[in-house]
Amino acid sequence: MSNDTNRRDFIGYSFAAVAAVGGGFALVGMKRAWDPLPSVLAGGFTTIDLTPMKPGKPETFEWRGKPIFVLKKSESMDNSERDLIVGKERFTVAIGLCTHLGCIPAWKKDTWKCACHGGQFNASGTQTFGPPPRPLDLPPFSVEGNTIVLGNEGPEFKKIAAFLATQA
Ligand code: FES
Repeated sequence: MSNDTNRRDFIGYSFAAVAAVGGGFALVGMKRAWDPLPSVLAGGFTTIDLTPMKPGKPETFEWRGKPIFVLKKSESMDNSERDLIVGKERFTVAIGLCTHLGCIPAWKKDTWKCACHGGQFNASGTQTFGPPPRPLDLPPFSVEGNTIVLGNEGPEFKKIAAFLATQA
């Protein structure tokens, strides 16, 4: 074998080695691009601690890009089969989008009012006025101690969802 041939082989092997390393990096890069971002994984579930909630003062959380209303009901608010009961407290959990055309209703005194076309929902999320065709929708959730986890379908969610299905 001539020196020239050895040299050509060496260059050939070197090129193959560089290409293999480059291909490896490319595969790692592609995997990173295909894997869901950490923020997307984290966005699948939202945990809400119910402990600090004040009666009659709803709070809005975000889950999968949607507003979620959680209201700890006060003594003066009517009970509903839609209520989520945790300990001795009753809560309304609802997707905060008007069931007419999707605007975000605002809480005024004891009612969610939709500014778009005047729709209203009471503290249990039931439509009471205007064009909304049904109650505020229910997000999937499960209950773990004094927290709710949005994104899981727990037994409490299934019970309320079954009740809402009878109202449709
Ligand atoms: S979008 Fe709320 S009443 Fe029309």
